Order: sequence, then structure tokens, then C-alpha cells
Amino acid sequence: MEYSPDDLAPRERYKVLASFVLPRPIAWVTTIGPTGVVNAAPYSFFNVFCEDPPICMFAANRTPDGREKDTLINIRRTGEFVVNLTDEPLARAMHESSGDFPPEIGEPDYLGLKLEPSTKIAVPRLADTPWAMECKVWKMIAVDHRELIMGEGINFYIRDDLWDREAMRVHMERYHPIGRMFADRYCRTDDRLVFPAAEGAKA
Ligand SMILES: Cc1cc2nc3c(=O)[nH]c(=O)nc-3n(C[C@H](O)[C@H](O)[C@H](O)COP(=O)(O)O)c2cc1C
Repeated sequence: MEYSPDDLAPRERYKVLASFVLPRPIAWVTTIGPTGVVNAAPYSFFNVFCEDPPICMFAANRTPDGREKDTLINIRRTGEFVVNLTDEPLARAMHESSGDFPPEIGEPDYLGLKLEPSTKIAVPRLADTPWAMECKVWKMIAVDHRELIMGEGINFYIRDDLWDREAMRVHMERYHPIGRMFADRYCRTDDRLVFPAAEGAKA
């Protein structure tokens, strides 16, 4: 089976990409609106790409009726956002925060999610997140009717119980991230494989 993207409608291309490039990590992005309302929404066209400087990127599409999403509007205004990651206990709330809430309704408030102040930016993080990165916009690239938002991480937060400070390693047995499959499907990540290092591999 092969397709040329030109022969597919955008929705069909989305299905071909999102059905196979998975599981995807989920950025649960918090931002602040013009009246101080804290917004939270999940974005799974997301990843981190380098560490020096630490750069992440996610793609904000338009809503089906052509509006820019609140996350993007808020980031254009403030230049700041927090990428919060999601583990199993938070997964349901993360999913529910993707509903089309009006800008004056903050998803954390509506869903009863606690917030904590960030250290270097005004946008708070989600209090129970396993990991968060405070970001300043590094670059934004418009691609047709969506926006690629690249953020530079200027502060990392790690929940204390998850991190071995001496070894600089995650306590993997305590960390239960979930991945985005497609549509409303997610996967757990507790069934793990370990292989011996490949010959001559550099860390
Ligand atoms: C797990 C998950 C991943 C999502 N990923 C994206 C994405 O990568 N890009 C996007 O534009 N919308 C994505 N959405 C949809 C947005 O979360 C949704 O449109 C949300 O209402 C946007 O909220 P906002 O207007 O507060 O920014 C995703 C939804 C879910 C549940």
C-alpha cells in the first residue's frame, strides 16, 4: 500500500500519519489568558529535539470552524508556556481538558486540578505533573493554517519521588507515562524491554 500525499485529503493524511507514528508523547500545555485565566490543553504532535539549548516543539492546528486555539492565542501574547507531562493518574483529566472550552473557562479550574507557581515564568505548572518544563518561545513557524511552536526550556521541574539525584536517573518503576495512540486511545508504558548495549555503541 502506498499513497502520494497529493492524492489524499488533509484529514486522510492525518489518519495515515497519526495511525502509525505512535505512541506519541503528550505535551499538556499550560498558558495564561488575557484576564489571568490558566488554560491547559493536550498536544501530541509534540516532542523534544535537542538539549543545548533544550528545545521542544508542538503543532497547534485550527479548530474545525477555523479559530486559533486558546493555547496559541495565549502564547502569542505572553511568549511563555509550560509543558506538563501526563502519567496514569492524570490521564483522564488530561483527556477531558481537550474539550472545546471557551477562553474564559480555565480547564484546571473546571476540572479541579491544582496549580503551582513556576519558578522563572508567570505561567503556572500543574501541581501533580511528573515533569514540567517552563518555556519561552524560541521560534514560531506558520505552516498553512497551523503553527509550529518551538519553546526553549528555561526551567525543569521533576516530581521528587521520581528522580534519583545521585545517579541522575528516573525511578522508572515509579514513573507511569501514557502515550497517545489515535483518536481517543492511549497506551500504558509499564511493559518494558531491555536489551544489552549494542556493540561499540556510544551512550
Ligand atoms: C491526547 C490529545 C492530543 C492532542 N494533540 C493535538 C495536537 O497535537 N494539535 C492540536 O492542534 N490539537 C491537539 N489536540 C486537540 C486539542 O487538545 C483541543 O483542540 C483543545 O481544545 C485545544 O485547547 P485550547 O483551545 O485551550 O488550546 C489533542 C487532543 C488530545 C486529547
